[in-house]
Amino acid sequence: MEVPCVDGRTRPYVDLDSAASTPPLPAVAKAVEAFLPVYSSVHRGAGWKSRASTTAYEAARQAALDFCGPGRAGDVAIICRNTTEAINHLAYRLELGPGAVVLTTVAEHHANLLPWGRVAERRFVECGEDGTFDVEAVVEGLRTHPRPAILAITGASNVTGWLPPLAGMIDAAHEHGVPVVLDAAQLAPHRPIPATADYVAFSGHKLYAPFGAGVLVGPRSTFAEGEPFLAGGGAVDLVDLDGVVWTAPPEREEAGSPNVVGAVALGTAIGELTGFGWDAMEEHARRLARLLRESLRRIEGVRVLGPGPGADTLPMATFEVSAAHHAYVASRLSAEWGIGVRHGCFCAHPYLVRLLGLSSGEVERYRAEVRRGDHSRMPGAVRASCSIATTEAEVEALVAAVESIASDALSGVAPPVPYEQDPATGDYWPVTSQPGWSPTERSVGSSCARG
Ligand SMILES: Cc1ncc(COP(=O)(O)O)c(C=O)c1O
Repeated sequence: MEVPCVDGRTRPYVDLDSAASTPPLPAVAKAVEAFLPVYSSVHRGAGWKSRASTTAYEAARQAALDFCGPGRAGDVAIICRNTTEAINHLAYRLELGPGAVVLTTVAEHHANLLPWGRVAERRFVECGEDGTFDVEAVVEGLRTHPRPAILAITGASNVTGWLPPLAGMIDAAHEHGVPVVLDAAQLAPHRPIPATADYVAFSGHKLYAPFGAGVLVGPRSTFAEGEPFLAGGGAVDLVDLDGVVWTAPPEREEAGSPNVVGAVALGTAIGELTGFGWDAMEEHARRLARLLRESLRRIEGVRVLGPGPGADTLPMATFEVSAAHHAYVASRLSAEWGIGVRHGCFCAHPYLVRLLGLSSGEVERYRAEVRRGDHSRMPGAVRASCSIATTEAEVEALVAAVESIASDALSGVAPPVPYEQDPATGDYWPVTSQPGWSPTERSVGSSCARG
């Protein structure tokens, strides 16, 4: 796709924001198109289309379950909207009770931090300056009294791309009798999901199926008793005016009309990725990760956050350019080179505070400013992230552009057009009347500073 740039030319869009959302695989787009004429209600109609839709929906559910590894005969896959909803759903359903402790980590996305704070006391595994921690740090949290009810951990960091040694961490939790909730939002598109994780959450829109479906997988027994997360039609066997008999999971957990199209897309994406094979995808991802991270590290004035050279990470890099605001760097990449990245704190504020090495005084200062509605000095970084379709040439284009911005920043050279910051969002905008970038075309609410 060609996108407009501030010099009046168009350039092919370089999509390096796959950790946020991925476009549909061609097979997914085709499957959705083919399914639309068939689409009808599921589990509710005797008509041919309803039956065909139900079959397609249930096939997608099975694909999602299988995607979480073998040995899941006692588990259910609940189709929901996304990882955030899946973890909120589970936090509600676990009925942890007073005094319960959830062991989680400072490296989590807010989706795996905030839901637990509502239902339990949280104990955090701390990270080092490079944003990592080892199995022993998790064991320490598991050993501390009272014993945690669960370990809620990310499969891969959405900021540093770090891959925690999951197998050892899950085994350690199990040795302590603690079930594991795996936030697989970032892991699922890049690596197999460990079959030993008790609960798994992931999102279709990060897995080349951006049609609004996500998945929560866990033992059927967790959902067999008690109140479902949502109450309504489809979740019941019988209702009278003062009582309800809930039906069995997974339908018990899916009140309301489900997202059948999203499920079909997700099931198709899973089928496609499985067909491509992990070996090929991992090889591609490792090559891009190395190229991206090592090339950025070589640029004067650029600091890559997270684990150092040689670490096995997802194909992403989060970095700072000294003397240049993260929003300014992201805006220039977009406006001058047609490169799409994300900037800000990536919905992982506690982790960013640690990676950026911010003092408590600095944190207090920007909090006070944000409370006043001023995001202009909100700390953050820039994240470039690759998909299975990203090419080495695209990574090299980013590296060259960052090199140019970093060099300008170090030598005080002005950009080709002036940029101005909107304090309400923290975003920078080029001051120009070129098509696509004129003041009337500034998108409302596109700020990355929110988390
Ligand atoms: C690690 C991680 N967990 C959870 C989420 C939340 O995913 P969603 O927005 O699809 O609910 C994200 C999204 O960026 C993520 O990267």
